Amino acid sequence: MNPVPFIPETAPFTPEQRAWLNGFLAGLHSSAPAEPAPAGSKNAEPLLILFGSQTGTAEGLAKKVAKESQPRGFAPKVLALNDFETANLAAAAKTVIISSTWGDGEPPDNAVNFWNWLNAESAPRLENLQFAVLGLGDKNYSDFCGASKKFDARLEALGAKRLVSRGECDADYEAAAKNWIDGLWEKLGATTHLSTAAAGTGQLAPDKPPGFNKENPFPARLLKNILLNQPGSSKEVRHYEISLAGSGLTYEAGDALGVVPVNCPELVDDLLAALKCKGDEPVKIDGTAMSLREAFTRHFDITRPTQDLITVAGERGFANGLSPLLAPDRRDDLKRWIFGRDVLDVIGLLPAPMPFTELQPLLRKLSPRLYSISSSPKAHPGEVHLTVSAVRYESHGRPRKGVASTFLADRVGDAEFVNVFVQASHGFRPPTSGDSPMIMVGPGTGIAPFRAFLEDRAATGAKGRNWLFFGDQKRSADFLYAEQLGCWQKSGLLTRLDLAFSRDQPEKVYVQDRMLENATEFWSWLEDGAYFYVCGDASRMAKDVDAALHKIIETAGGKSPDEAKAYVAKLKSDKRYQRDVY
Ligand SMILES: Cc1cc2nc3c(=O)[nH]c(=O)nc-3n(C[C@H](O)[C@H](O)[C@H](O)COP(=O)(O)OP(=O)(O)OC[C@H]3O[C@@H](n4cnc5c(N)ncnc54)[C@H](O)[C@@H]3O)c2cc1C
Ligand SMILES: NC(=O)c1ccc[n+]([C@@H]2O[C@H](COP(=O)([O-])OP(=O)(O)OC[C@H]3O[C@@H](n4cnc5c(N)ncnc54)[C@H](OP(=O)(O)O)[C@@H]3O)[C@@H](O)[C@H]2O)c1
Repeated sequence: MNPVPFIPETAPFTPEQRAWLNGFLAGLHSSAPAEPAPAGSKNAEPLLILFGSQTGTAEGLAKKVAKESQPRGFAPKVLALNDFETANLAAAAKTVIISSTWGDGEPPDNAVNFWNWLNAESAPRLENLQFAVLGLGDKNYSDFCGASKKFDARLEALGAKRLVSRGECDADYEAAAKNWIDGLWEKLGATTHLSTAAAGTGQLAPDKPPGFNKENPFPARLLKNILLNQPGSSKEVRHYEISLAGSGLTYEAGDALGVVPVNCPELVDDLLAALKCKGDEPVKIDGTAMSLREAFTRHFDITRPTQDLITVAGERGFANGLSPLLAPDRRDDLKRWIFGRDVLDVIGLLPAPMPFTELQPLLRKLSPRLYSISSSPKAHPGEVHLTVSAVRYESHGRPRKGVASTFLADRVGDAEFVNVFVQASHGFRPPTSGDSPMIMVGPGTGIAPFRAFLEDRAATGAKGRNWLFFGDQKRSADFLYAEQLGCWQKSGLLTRLDLAFSRDQPEKVYVQDRMLENATEFWSWLEDGAYFYVCGDASRMAKDVDAALHKIIETAGGKSPDEAKAYVAKLKSDKRYQRDVY
């Protein structure tokens, strides 16, 4: 047999494109009996893959596991946890659960109903179930991977057998997730059906050519950068228009755009100076050689100090006040200490410059930021619009800038590109029927996806009623998209627009106050089958809006608190209560 042809490292392809081409060549070359077992073939073993995903990352990993499982002889089924028919869990055999964590160690929205079912006293024994749990989280939060810990412990308590230990992934999750998934295949001894050619190269032949995605983002042109606030505002919210021409990328209203940011060059200079480096020192990132300046500019997160860096700085035992905060019972104090400090602040505490070779493994990778898309492709073919609040603040005597939001605002020159990818929504979508009423609550930048929803409905001529609650600080300065919303009111597309400008009067008025003032009508919309959407701040607004929704159901709907909870659970399982909160 001839040797398997392969694409050399020097060929002008991204690693992903090279992997695909190698896999393709290997697939072409392999003999018929070594072909991967097709999903659903007679010998394929069922593999249930359930995900709880708020931003789509866990869903993406679930699909990756499914794809990798097929040539290994499995017939995968991928579902959001809430979409799984719980009664079938006791009879399921091998099950993988991949979940992110939301809020204070809670499961994401599309896993909450499943979680409540699993925790109920009536939950069945699950002795026949073999499970594996992978958690996604962020070490900056105290209950790191809290939701996956709870899933793992509860399944064990119900008698299910663990296939492999629970995996944990921090914000730059790719390598940890890959290791855990590889460990899963090892445990399952599932390489028997793998094509010999693909097994030899460690690569699977993907089923479609490479497109632009998170691993291979599209270098896009920024067409417009428009400040939406008026003089007198304390905010800087900008409207961006980005060209997707030539990318082949498509999206739908409800999707998000991933932006791969570039760090601020002044901050890179300051960090290099603090390390006594010139910037031309050679480093290797994932096997690619580059200068230290390039690595700090494009590859490392140089704003958020990692726990590892903090620990190293604290353990050195200088009089920096940090060491006592490393004690396990001082977690909250440490969190307060970290808030508003960056890598440069921590490096500044060291008595002597840290060699960059020591710093490098203590940094995490610079991660892309997601933005809810604020345009409909039906209204703006080949373009994607964003509505982004620039993060700027002063801390410990230095001005600070959010990496991605100020990269878009300040640093994308005419000759520069913005590397982007589309993150498909995990179900945050306008109703399938154009006749269904929509109620949308989107204060601040939370308006973004609702501009897209409304543009979508305008483009398709959907007849359903639309009710938007918008709020921000001052009407005169912060009424985002006022003109467009006004036109939609006039045209009748926007049936109702209720506004809550919090700082136009002595007492705060928020969107949930407007909901409660209109409880009777709100309830009648719900009873007419309205879909209820919330977008924006997760930490306070979304919780208060949820409480207001329960209150409306109790007061206007005449339900008890328990009945209101059941009503909301039903709205969620019917996909009539959807949130895009951050
Ligand atoms: C699904 C999704 C959709 C989103 N959609 C939008 C959108 O449509 N529009 C939008 O603007 N954003 C949106 N975001 C948020 C967005 O992804 C970024 O988190 C945001 O732009 C900040 O990123 P950054 O890189 O500019 O800031 P970063 O460099 O990440 O800095 C932000 C961090 O700075 C710190 N910080 C901020 N203010 C202060 C302060 N005053 N004092 C001390 N520390 C502070 C906080 O730790 C904060 O987490 C969305 C997020 C998600 C997950
Ligand atoms: N992760 C990040 O780095 C990052 C970056 C940018 C934005 N965000 C998130 O995105 C959210 C949106 O930011 P934004 O600037 O567009 O708008 P915002 O800060 O949410 O403000 C919009 C309006 O909501 C009001 N509000 C405050 N608390 C509320 C509550 N509990 N319930 C209802 N409304 C409330 C504000 O009023 P007052 O201000 O007068 O109280 C303001 O009128 C932020 O709150 C933040 O959580 C995150």
